[in-house]
Amino acid sequence: MREHIEASAELSLRPWAAADVAAVTEAFAEPLMRRQLPWPVDSPEEARRWLADRAERRATGTDFSFAVVDRRDTVLGGVAVGSIDLRHAVGWVSYWTTAPARGRGVATLGCRALADWAFTDLGLFRLELGHRVGNTASCRVAGAAGFAVEGLQRQKLRYDGVRYDVETHARLVCDPVPAGGTTG
Ligand SMILES: CC(C)(COP(=O)(O)OP(=O)(O)OC[C@H]1O[C@@H](n2cnc3c(N)ncnc32)[C@H](O)[C@@H]1OP(=O)(O)O)[C@@H](O)C(=O)NCCC(=O)NCCS
Repeated sequence: MREHIEASAELSLRPWAAADVAAVTEAFAEPLMRRQLPWPVDSPEEARRWLADRAERRATGTDFSFAVVDRRDTVLGGVAVGSIDLRHAVGWVSYWTTAPARGRGVATLGCRALADWAFTDLGLFRLELGHRVGNTASCRVAGAAGFAVEGLQRQKLRYDGVRYDVETHARLVCDPVPAGGTTG
């Protein structure tokens, strides 16, 4: 199983490392990211806890998180496949990018590379993801990474007391491989 994955000439995926504390603390301080997290990661201590949690999950073999980095090893975002059900060969995909890295294809290329790895190295058959309706950027990433729209989960999420519908997407191992797009 590959630990390092080439996403493009400029981008690669690698497991999170202890040295990523500062990058994680900074990335998760951003308001858009706060709601993506299971608990507030707003200090170096919490970032260390988040990184330790990633490592523990990876060791279970059912949850793999990667940093998306450039050639200088600057963290530009994260992609993950978790909730892996080996019986059915299904996993749940997620992605985020740092505010300065957005809009240049980092999430799209990272998600494509992750999907290829999950199909090839993990042997998964189906990858699922979901985004809040109205998260247009996330929807564009899903489409560009080959995840077809499958449905709508009504009022699945609650942020600050407001409930949101979630659009679901999925990509099967036998679906067409997406091509082209941005260079990252
Ligand atoms: C969603 C997110 C991951 C996108 O990352 P990114 O690296 O900017 O994505 P990409 O550059 O690969 O592609 C973004 C696409 O969304 C579009 N986009 C970006 N911001 C947008 C906005 N505010 N409104 C509409 N479209 C937008 C871009 O034009 C691009 O589409 P295109 O390639 O068809 O032109 C990033 O904005 C993010 O981390 N948001 C906060 C966390 C989050 O929402 N994660 C997803 C949870 S489901």
